[in-house]
Amino acid sequence: MKFTDWSTYIQQRTETALQAILPAADLAPDRLHEAMRYAALGGGKRVRALLVHAAGGLTHACPEQLDRAACAVELIHAYSLVHDDMPCMDNDNLRRGKPTVHVEYDEATALLVGDALQTLAFQAMSETSVSATAAGQLEAIRLLATAAGSHGMAGGQAIDIASAGREMTREELEFMHLRKTGALIRAAVLIGGHAGEGVTDERQRCLDHYAKRIGLLYQVVDDILDVGADTVTLGKTAGKDASHNKPTYVSLLGLSDARRFAEELLAQAHTALRPLGGRGARLAELADFIAHRAF
Ligand code: IPE
Ligand code: IPE
Ligand code: MG
Ligand code: MG
Ligand code: MG
Repeated sequence: MKFTDWSTYIQQRTETALQAILPAADLAPDRLHEAMRYAALGGGKRVRALLVHAAGGLTHACPEQLDRAACAVELIHAYSLVHDDMPCMDNDNLRRGKPTVHVEYDEATALLVGDALQTLAFQAMSETSVSATAAGQLEAIRLLATAAGSHGMAGGQAIDIASAGREMTREELEFMHLRKTGALIRAAVLIGGHAGEGVTDERQRCLDHYAKRIGLLYQVVDDILDVGADTVTLGKTAGKDASHNKPTYVSLLGLSDARRFAEELLAQAHTALRPLGGRGARLAELADFIAHRAF
C-alpha cells in the first residue's frame, strides 16, 4: 500500500477507535464528556498512532490491539495539547483549526478534560489486551506512564515554561525537546514494537535509537513551522514561540541551520533502521513525513 493510502487508513481506524473509547457526549457529566470528544476527535495528524501501527507491523501484531495502544498514546497527546494551550501555559486560542478547549468551554473544564483524557488512556491500555503477552501489556503501560510523567512530557513542559525569556544552550534545548515531545513519540514506537510476538532486545534497541531521533526531529520541525508556516495551514497560531520568547532550535541556530539539523536527524533515523532491512520501510516513510510535513 502507498504511504498516503496507508496513513489515511490508519487515521480513519484511529478516529473510529477513539469514537468508541471516549464516553458519549450525552452521558453525565455531559459537558465534560462533550469537551473530551471535542479535544480528541476530528483533527490531528495522528502521527503517534501511525508510529504504533508501523512498529507493530514489524511483528505482525494484532491490528485491534494496536488500535487500543494507538488510542492511548493519542489520548495522552490530546491531553498534553489541551493543557499546553491553557492561559497558565502557552495561552493559545486555536488548535487543530478550532478554538482551544478553554476558549470553547472554560478553564476548569479544560483542566478536567486533560485529567480525564490522561486516565482514559491508561484505562484503555489496561482494560483489554494491547499486546500478545501479559508481560508485553505491562511493559506498554510502564512505557506510556514514564513517557507522560516528570521524566518525560510533563517534565519537558516544566522546563519549557521555566525557560521563557531565557537563553538555553544546545544541550539544554535538546534535553527539553527530547522530553516534552520526544518521550511520547518514543513510547509510541516502543509500544508498537512490543505488541507482537518474538520481541527481541536487539530490535527494540534499534527502534529506540530511531525513536529518539524522530522524537527530537518532531519538535525541531515544530519549531521551524512556527516560524515558516501560516496560521491557517498550521491550524494553530503561527509565530507564537518568538512572541512568547521561547528558546527553540530556530532562535538558537537560525532557520537555515535548524533546517540542516532536521535533515541530519532524518538521516540518523534512516541509519538507525538499517538493521531492519526492508521491514523498516514504513518507519522510514514516517520519518520522511515528520521531517517534510507542511503542518
Ligand atoms: C503538536 O503536535 C505539539 C507537539 C508535540 C510538537 P502535533 O503536530 O503532532 O499535533 P496534531 O496531533 O497533529 O494536532
Ligand atoms: C508542545 O510544544 C509540546 C506538548 C504539548 C507536550 P509546543 O507548545 O511547541 O506545541 P504547539 O506548537 O503549541 O503545538
Ligand atoms: Mg508549549
Ligand atoms: Mg504550545
Ligand atoms: Mg510549537
